Amino acid sequence: LQFPPAASMDVLYSKTQIAERVAAIGKQISEDYEGQSIVLIGVLKGAAIFLADLARAITVDATFDFVAVSSYGRARVSSGAVKLIKDIDNPIEGKHVILVEDILDTGLTLSYLRGLMLQHKPASLKIATCLDKPERRLVPIEADYVAFSIPNAFVIGYGMDYAERYRNVEDIRLMPPEVGGH
Ligand code: PRP
Ligand code: MN
Ligand code: MG
Repeated sequence: LQFPPAASMDVLYSKTQIAERVAAIGKQISEDYEGQSIVLIGVLKGAAIFLADLARAITVDATFDFVAVSSYGRARVSSGAVKLIKDIDNPIEGKHVILVEDILDTGLTLSYLRGLMLQHKPASLKIATCLDKPERRLVPIEADYVAFSIPNAFVIGYGMDYAERYRNVEDIRLMPPEVGGH
């Protein structure tokens, strides 16, 4: 099957487990930024679901923005070329910014975006990611808020895709290796 039903794939983290971690991170962020305003910047498209949930778990004043970067493709990962397709809409100078990602893998996307955002001179810049795959890192970068740290497995759901499918799957599930997982 080219695109097997998500229900046939093993659950890595259930929607309940995800909700618990998102609530905990939201609480932590609300404490860390108490009395301040923050800007959540989501990286399209994978981060959309996590950002939507995380934002609603945060009680401090928050606005959204979104960036889009060119996908360098899994097979050409070593080229490391990341290009900005869509920039932020509103200035972030002097603001407290949190970059929001679904997954921190090689680190190429976030290290590029962090460098770019720092040029705008935010008051502070942190990173929140739903998943972290530390063993895949090609460039040194760490997230400040991580829901789950996982070994190298191909996962889908909760915003994460395989050939643009499965982003709307509620749980985070393991893509079988014979389909295209790696
Ligand atoms: C995925 C993921 C992160 C990035 C992480 O995005 O959503 O943005 O790759 O990989 P890295 O740490 O190796 O850079 P993708 O390019 O698949 O685009 P998408 O979010 O639209 O699925
Ligand atoms: Mn992405
Ligand atoms: Mg993708």
